[in-house]
Amino acid sequence: MSKLWGGRFTKQTNHLVDEYTASIGFDQKLAEEDIQGSLAHVTMLGKCGILPQEDVETIKDGLNKVLDKIRKGDIEFSISDEDIHMNVEKNLIAEIGPVGGKLHTGRSRNDQVATDMHLYLRKRVVELSGMLYELQKALIGQARDNLDTIIPGYTHLQRAQPILFAHHLMAYVSMFQRDIERLMDSYKRINVLPLGAGALAGTTFPIDRHFVAEQLQFDRVYENSLDAVSDRDFILEFLSHASIIMMHLSRLSEELVLWSSTEFNFIELDDAFCTGSSIMPQKKNPDVPELVRGKTGRVYGNLMGLLTVLKSLPLAYNKDMQEDKEGMFDTVATLEGALQLFAPMIATMKVNKPRMREAVNKDFSNATDIADFLVGKGLPFRQAHEVIGKTVLYCIQNGKYLLDLTMDEFKQFSPLFDDAIYEVLQPETVVNARNVYGGTATDQVADAIKRSEVLLQMTEQWLEEHQ
Ligand code: ARG
Repeated sequence: MSKLWGGRFTKQTNHLVDEYTASIGFDQKLAEEDIQGSLAHVTMLGKCGILPQEDVETIKDGLNKVLDKIRKGDIEFSISDEDIHMNVEKNLIAEIGPVGGKLHTGRSRNDQVATDMHLYLRKRVVELSGMLYELQKALIGQARDNLDTIIPGYTHLQRAQPILFAHHLMAYVSMFQRDIERLMDSYKRINVLPLGAGALAGTTFPIDRHFVAEQLQFDRVYENSLDAVSDRDFILEFLSHASIIMMHLSRLSEELVLWSSTEFNFIELDDAFCTGSSIMPQKKNPDVPELVRGKTGRVYGNLMGLLTVLKSLPLAYNKDMQEDKEGMFDTVATLEGALQLFAPMIATMKVNKPRMREAVNKDFSNATDIADFLVGKGLPFRQAHEVIGKTVLYCIQNGKYLLDLTMDEFKQFSPLFDDAIYEVLQPETVVNARNVYGGTATDQVADAIKRSEVLLQMTEQWLEEHQ
């Protein structure tokens, strides 16, 4: 069959041009959304008296049949029909005859493709929020089991101050909470209907855009027809939120990789989430977090790619914009792949509490607290800092930790020391001394867990309302 737009042409398209310009290879992912949009459009054409009701019913029937065939894999898409929109229309006409050609009345592929993308991303944003929510639940579960587990907290990857492992995990819960909130917020800008903008200027037919919006459950319609067909901000926004999510996942990945090394030995990932080496029989590699860390690169790349495609594009639609799709699909697949593994991997991760305890005991991360102790005795903080610096140096030179020092040794550095110091230096005391809102004291972390459950419930409700 010839091209749907063949009338003006005197020659066949060069087959390399067909191959080069076609998007069907990837935009067939939009088949469901394309037909969903078409069903709403043709219903509106009937309601507005633009098409006779009889034709509307025939077209709807035909569209449903085409959808059914696509779902069953019974349709072979063709490159010479360029994209999903024309492939569906061709198949519709093959199914019901020339009346199928009435579907495209008052519409252009430019507002059609934009509508498909809005419908597609709207679903993905809800799905991905749900997956982030599952990951938060896994992290909170581990936090609850580790309310009494102390690890060294780090700055510059040097031991800094002891903290609860639960507190560390809850930091990620906060990050993923912001990610969910960003996705929820972006939904407002995704859930806007471009259809009715036509190619760029609107249409001569007396259509009802608000009726289409209602049917497709869009909150609003685009204000400006040029903007409707050339806006890809909602995809950029998604790619940028996705980049931040991957950045968070890759930070967590890096910690999981470090923590599972023999050097740290803080955690063990379940065998089901690790792989072996083809040569070294002893190895158990944390491939999943490594690969998530690595795949972060392509997600950033997809964002930069689309930003660059759109830069300097004149209004309205340009073929360049077809380049919006592969990066978006790839980003969705990359995020889904990572998130579906991360929640169960975190939930099944084993925490090596004795080893964490050992790390905390053989450590100077309680040094700030002796300085604070001397400050409590009236010494200016700067002087206390100097005294403890010298005490730590003495310990290092003599192979001791602060808790190993005798009172006589302490007194060499300051007469202000007394026996209370041994209690002050206990990791539990150090942790619980940070009893400020958002701090690492056990009560504070327990409260933080409770507060996070309220946020989780809000997400649950949002997910329910947007299914
Ligand atoms: N496949 C095209 C895309 O993805 C659909 C819109 C084509 N519009 C056009 N005027 N050629 O951007």
